[in-house]
Amino acid sequence: MTSSETATDRSLFQPTVLDHGDFRLQPWGRALDLPGGTIAAVLAAAADPEIARWNPLRDATDPAGAEAYLDRADERWATGTTAGFAITDGADGTLLGNVVLIWTDRAEGIAMVGYWLLAAARGRGLATRATTAITRWGVRTAGVRRIELYHAVDNAPSCQVALRAGFPYEGTLRASYRYGDRPYNDEHLHARLASDPELPER
Ligand SMILES: CC(C)(COP(=O)(O)OP(=O)(O)OC[C@H]1O[C@@H](n2cnc3c(N)ncnc32)[C@H](O)[C@@H]1OP(=O)(O)O)[C@@H](O)C(=O)NCCC(=O)NCCS
Repeated sequence: MTSSETATDRSLFQPTVLDHGDFRLQPWGRALDLPGGTIAAVLAAAADPEIARWNPLRDATDPAGAEAYLDRADERWATGTTAGFAITDGADGTLLGNVVLIWTDRAEGIAMVGYWLLAAARGRGLATRATTAITRWGVRTAGVRRIELYHAVDNAPSCQVALRAGFPYEGTLRASYRYGDRPYNDEHLHARLASDPELPER
């Protein structure tokens, strides 16, 4: 870190809406008003088998749990340490997925990105675009310097998202994370630096 690049350059995340035309990033929280009801949308996401496998929404199995999920998102926005966005359809506002940026070491400018999509939104490059959008926003508004991305070694689609979003593979971590109640998984670490060359628009 240089003398001009100190921890004070790293800002807390501020809630905002990012409009990308055919999709939007909207802060998760009690104020989010999704068509058909935000609680119902959270419950549907939590029930998706692939999301349950790789990004379990843990206790969001009933309406009270879904409300607690939204309350936690509000608390995290309030502290500015985690920026959790619903990915919504730019035309009808329905929920498509989730993308999140978490400060893991703000003093060093290091954050982590994560994502999931509902089944109907998969297979068209949306996770790559949402990851690119949140990464650019984090660099621009909060001074993120390095964004890390972790995925289980057997989650091949997520590996493709990482590579296509400009996060090169940096190594394999052994038994580093427990997804749900399964045994510890080996994970790939990918990362992108704010100084990496810009990617072409997708
Ligand atoms: C992982 C996930 C976010 C991917 O998002 P997406 O926008 O659907 O990604 P895409 O389908 O555009 O791209 C995935 C790529 O993986 C490829 N892929 C899919 N299944 C694959 C497999 N079994 N083996 C290898 N590649 C695979 C796809 O072909 C695609 O590549 P291509 O466009 O070059 O063909 C989405 O599948 C998802 O939400 N899964 C459940 C939750 C999850 O895994 N979250 C990430 C935790 S780290």
